[in-house]
Amino acid sequence: MKKLMAANWKMYKTREEAKATAEELLKLAASSLPEDREVLVCPPFTSLGVVSEVFSGVPGFFVGGQDFYFREEGAFTGEIAPGMLLDQGAHFGLTGHSERRHVIGEGDELVGKKTAFGLASGLSVILCIGELIEERRAGRVEEVLERQLRLGLADVPNDIDPERLCVAYEPVWAIGTGEVAGPREILEAHAFVRKTMVAMFGDNANEIRILYGGSVKPSNCAEIIALDNVDGVLVGGASLQGESFSQIVLA
Ligand code: 13P
Repeated sequence: MKKLMAANWKMYKTREEAKATAEELLKLAASSLPEDREVLVCPPFTSLGVVSEVFSGVPGFFVGGQDFYFREEGAFTGEIAPGMLLDQGAHFGLTGHSERRHVIGEGDELVGKKTAFGLASGLSVILCIGELIEERRAGRVEEVLERQLRLGLADVPNDIDPERLCVAYEPVWAIGTGEVAGPREILEAHAFVRKTMVAMFGDNANEIRILYGGSVKPSNCAEIIALDNVDGVLVGGASLQGESFSQIVLA
């Protein structure tokens, strides 16, 4: 299974800035990218095209959308369809990111519809899950993760190609706070995600990549990526500079 080193640029960068960062990343990481790693950059929708052009023809480098809607087209002001992401050269799409859930207010059912529709439309989908600090303190981590997985993946067919589905565990309290989850917390959560997905999808789920996200940096990436059941990372702040993200990609 190839490790997926993913960048989420959130609402940062003009097209020119995105192009420059993508070019710098290629310069620093493309020639030394190990065979068993893939790189994904999720820029704002407005920069999908320029980043796709920069990555075009470079093995192992992919582009993704940060979110999408569960319809092919229609009167859905402000939304974007999976087909439109594919048309911009994207291969991946995120669903259920913490900021979609907790800032914009998306619920599990909506996230589930998006996940299934994105997969059916030909995107590879990264379903993001993770507990709030209050939920962790109340001992409810497994309950929250199980609910987010069961509803988030409710309409995903059992025989889904496991290469096209990833789950990103991003504890909300570790996102953008500098507070990274410890190895024990990551190991426990990822083992639980694996066990839950095996219960849902059978052995197929052993091939589904589970990424960790939340304050991943060049200084902690090597340790995190070596943990059991960590099949990649999803990086926000430290992915915004080509220099620091290239160190993560090669860590
Ligand atoms: P940070 O790496 O900035 O904590 O963000 C993580 C994240 O939300 C990636 O999707």
